[in-house]
Amino acid sequence: MNETQRILQLRKELHEHNHRYYVENAPVISDQAFDALMDELMQLEARHPELADPNSPSVRVGSDLSHEFNQVVHARPMLSLGNTYSRADVEAFYQRVAEGLGGAPFEICCELKFDGLSISLHYEHRRLVLAVTRGDGAVGDDVTENVKTIRTVPLELPEGCGCPESFEIRGEVLMPWASFERLNAEREAREEPLFANPRNAASGTLKSKSSAVVAQRRLDAYLYQVYADELAALPHFERLQAARRWGFQTSGHIRLARSVDEIFDYIDYWDQHRRELPVATDGIVLKVNDPAQQQALGFTAKSPRWAIAYKFKAERARTLLREVTFQVGRTGAVTPVANMDPVQLAGTVVRRASLHNADIVRSLDLHLGDYVYVEKAGEIIPQIVGVDTEARAGNVALGAPVQFATHCPECGAPLVRYPGEAAHYCPASSTCPPQLKGRIEHFISRDAMNIDTLGPETVDDYFERGLIRDAADLYRLRVEDLCGPDGNRLRSAQRVVEALEESKGVPFERVLYALGIRFVGKVVAKSLARHFRSMQALRAATAEALLEVEGVGDTIAGSVYAFLRDEANIDQIERLAAAGVQMEVEQKALASQRLEGQSVVVSGTFSRHSRDEYKQLIEAHGGKNVGSISKKTAFILAGEAMGPSKREKAEKLGIPLVSEEDFLKILGEE
Ligand code: IVH
Repeated sequence: MNETQRILQLRKELHEHNHRYYVENAPVISDQAFDALMDELMQLEARHPELADPNSPSVRVGSDLSHEFNQVVHARPMLSLGNTYSRADVEAFYQRVAEGLGGAPFEICCELKFDGLSISLHYEHRRLVLAVTRGDGAVGDDVTENVKTIRTVPLELPEGCGCPESFEIRGEVLMPWASFERLNAEREAREEPLFANPRNAASGTLKSKSSAVVAQRRLDAYLYQVYADELAALPHFERLQAARRWGFQTSGHIRLARSVDEIFDYIDYWDQHRRELPVATDGIVLKVNDPAQQQALGFTAKSPRWAIAYKFKAERARTLLREVTFQVGRTGAVTPVANMDPVQLAGTVVRRASLHNADIVRSLDLHLGDYVYVEKAGEIIPQIVGVDTEARAGNVALGAPVQFATHCPECGAPLVRYPGEAAHYCPASSTCPPQLKGRIEHFISRDAMNIDTLGPETVDDYFERGLIRDAADLYRLRVEDLCGPDGNRLRSAQRVVEALEESKGVPFERVLYALGIRFVGKVVAKSLARHFRSMQALRAATAEALLEVEGVGDTIAGSVYAFLRDEANIDQIERLAAAGVQMEVEQKALASQRLEGQSVVVSGTFSRHSRDEYKQLIEAHGGKNVGSISKKTAFILAGEAMGPSKREKAEKLGIPLVSEEDFLKILGEE
């Protein structure tokens, strides 16, 4: 078998394994074996750019290239459904259908209503060619590259599967609970705003400019409507079964009902059991099954007369508000928290709920001793949604209206509120204990210095014992300071000191992230480190110089600039440096300085090395990889099939294109 045949074979096999793993949940090979096949494919593809295929299984890993979304007009408008929360409306719907069909028998297809965002997929000759968001119903965004990273969306359907030559299939893109929880945990660790529910997270993700980000976030998709000329006479239920045979993920919980009672059985069952599903649902959808009957019933201006959505009511509990406390984070942001009598809600006991900020506290008009309503709808985080004002009369325990704190509950400093921000802050960043401790906790966290022998409890303990006030103090700790008076914690003390010693090898970009500069997450820290290469250069940078870094705008530049001019921060950085923590990018990896200070855009496909190898080469020779062309770009490493918009932009800005061969000559790597 030659390499071309092997590529085609690998693609076919990997498509099949993807389907078995993600759709059927029944893999037949190990993850390791799968990865090995994928590696082989990617290496062969790098050697054969002429065989590039936009639907190769290798596109699942996504790309960092920025996708500006094109607008696409929907072949048929993407309508929404009439919504109801009432069982009486479901009965009325059933009656209307019965009357509309003049007493003829009919079936209702009962489905789960998935809570994500709708997507329209187009297939031609078994291949995914287009994926469009709902948009305004008439025109949506072309998010094909992002959708390709969703593993349950087939890029290519198996030969002989029997699908029509050309068809459209619609469904819902979702973020499964597990992915959602992991994403929010990561965001919490970075003190970034949390996504309120999986729907918002899925929609934010699908519209991301980088398909590599989408690939990491692990979205899922369920398909629920199929359109093709050949299928015009096939009932809806059978169409979904056919789609499942072709390789799509459809819900396994679809039922046909022949009476209102059967519909209510379905509703009642899923109202109870939907929490056991891996994805969020917010109701059920009822659709007349027969296409001729659907047509006879027709549409209103906004939605079909043959379908309706019954939405589950958000679960709500009523409980007593005992106290409002104020929590101070490492950035000094102060969050009001309601402390309530414990109450059972949607499977968990709720005692606390964030009140977010002063505006929300005010709009709720809370009094201590109030009976409040707590809800957990799509939001897994409980929210206070209102007050039972009628219960105030005769409530002898009713206290004063809740006032937002004026001073920091931890250190007493008067709080400040910056223009345009909803949060209050404690400005005493260099003395306020939770801020000091929070910054140390951030410093040791996994994505930062990764000192896992220390945790929040040990940080708290050392802090209370006066051993540390900032991260630099950690490096002065000695075994004898840490163990108990009788040396009883000797082993763990030794392990802490060893781990700290080891952390001195953590690369500069993570040290920079570990410092906890506001708005500087992992990605920005990496860009800053690669651009300036040392703390010394970063400290010398003007605000304008900071703005030249990829991904750095006014807010980040302002924050970095101010941080590096604060005396306490400078002092800490100098003590960290003296302790031996990395303050520059390791130079020894550099193969040469030939591309020193040059920003390079890599575009197209290559024959001698893969794209990633070229990116590594650029860095190894002191250059920087940037995603998009600007006037600061030194040159474009241009391979085959470079995008026309890039070419145009390069021409406009007069940026030279360098071929693969010339590039290797520049590096002396020929
Ligand atoms: S059918 C004309 N089926 O709910 C029929 N929609 O309010 C159009 N949805 O925009 C939709 N699960 O995003 C249908 N099983 C399901 C669904 C579903 C969720 C969403 C979809 C639609 C919205 C309707």
